[in-house]
Amino acid sequence: MCEQVTRELGVWLSGRVYWIQHGTRGGAYYTLSDRVLDKNQQLVPLFEPDYRKKKKKYSDYVKTHGFITNSLCRQLLKINVNAYINENSTEFYRGCPELNKDITNQHIYNKQIKIDDRKAFYFQWHFIENCNLRCIHCYQEGYDFKDLDKDKVFQIAKSMDQVLSKWGKIGRISLTGGEPFIRQDLLEELLNFFNQSNNIYWLGILTNGTLIDNDIVLRLKKFEKLKEIQVSIDGSDDKNHDLVRGKGSFIKAINGIKKIKDSGLGVSIMFTIHNMNKGEAINVINLANDLGVEAITIERITPMTKKDINDLYIKPDELKKIYSQIYKKKQELEQHSELKIRVSRPLWTLVDNNLGGFCPVGLTSLCIMHDGTVLPCRRLDIPLGNVLQEGLFKIWYTSELLWKLRNKNLLDVKCRSCAMLPNCGGCRAIAYHVNGDFLASDPQCWK
Ligand SMILES: C[S@@+](CC[C@H](N)C(=O)[O-])C[C@H]1O[C@@H](n2cnc3c(N)ncnc32)[C@H](O)[C@@H]1O
Ligand code: SF4
Ligand code: SF4
Repeated sequence: MCEQVTRELGVWLSGRVYWIQHGTRGGAYYTLSDRVLDKNQQLVPLFEPDYRKKKKKYSDYVKTHGFITNSLCRQLLKINVNAYINENSTEFYRGCPELNKDITNQHIYNKQIKIDDRKAFYFQWHFIENCNLRCIHCYQEGYDFKDLDKDKVFQIAKSMDQVLSKWGKIGRISLTGGEPFIRQDLLEELLNFFNQSNNIYWLGILTNGTLIDNDIVLRLKKFEKLKEIQVSIDGSDDKNHDLVRGKGSFIKAINGIKKIKDSGLGVSIMFTIHNMNKGEAINVINLANDLGVEAITIERITPMTKKDINDLYIKPDELKKIYSQIYKKKQELEQHSELKIRVSRPLWTLVDNNLGGFCPVGLTSLCIMHDGTVLPCRRLDIPLGNVLQEGLFKIWYTSELLWKLRNKNLLDVKCRSCAMLPNCGGCRAIAYHVNGDFLASDPQCWK
């Protein structure tokens, strides 16, 4: 009965649907036509008559911004809403059909979504801050090592697990730090927890590789959802890699890669390219090929400080040359090697129309820090809230920043009017750190 009424209402509302969460007691669908399905499934007027006067102001705001905040909702409507969750219409959901569909499916039709039909969502969780290295380019600000108690860490893990089922999504999680292998005990317990969850289908670890030994790789083999251990390599030999990551780190990381590979676990390389190692890209690809790893990701550095911008940032014309060399190498290797060179990030489409990809930030991914702080992405380090306080469900639907990121019309005109937009959109984190505006065009774009 309930579901039937909800379905009919969904059709009746046809396109202008809003969801209001009333504290913890439940919520209601409503439209600008003022009617609401209350918790007894009755259609009732929601607003006091004076709401009509404010309606224009309210709808103008929504049209301009594509979202409305809790406080503004309270202010304009004088109603006691605890959280306001975005509206659903092509008009208001500009550039965000993915979320549009989610809300229609889950909230209007109240469907039980089958696991196989769920869309993937990615969490990068820096579950500890502690690290054994001090890399020159690292975005980590402090090394004060005040990691959370285990019960709090598991509170975060459970929140991630639960929110996936509430969102009707299925999760991919990368566990990282700091250096995750510093806390092998906790890492294993977390893998064990997620490995058993029906809400998770893929697990990965991001590591510097220096603390990996035979015992730990053998123990990790029992987690069948653990598909990939990504080891950071920032130069093709000890001279170049150790310049970035510290003396002795190259040989340890290479040994780590070999141990993972020998165990049969999936292993890949992450090469973060910047001004000091930009000449090493092809050599690192060759190294990855010789080691027989499955894939290599080449990621641009996000310069987090003025010093990084001066010392490590690569200018667009130079980046263009490097990307062209990598592309040539990729084509060459495709003839005879299994190595995947991952090129699904912004700007790659400038090298070849078939490559690149729009960044998932704000759409299908979130980053969680060691203390529960939630970021859109580790490199776009603007806090959205905390898992342990606001919770992930509320942050995802109410963060103004996330709504801005979802609205492609708010991007700087260079990106907004660019034919490459669907496959690019630029890196929002690099735009933020170099230009001070996360909606600015990508400063490394050579178009
Ligand atoms: C923060 S580390 C954590 C895991 C592990 N300690 C490691 O080094 O791989 C994850 C990845 O982020 C990269 N990284 C660190 N600072 C960066 C920055 N400012 N911009 C882009 N990538 C960065 C590292 O090189 C590494 O590949
Ligand atoms: S090993 Fe990873 S977390 Fe540690 S300093 Fe280097 S990049 Fe940062
Ligand atoms: S203008 Fe923006 S969308 Fe177009 S290629 Fe450059 S960064 Fe990508």
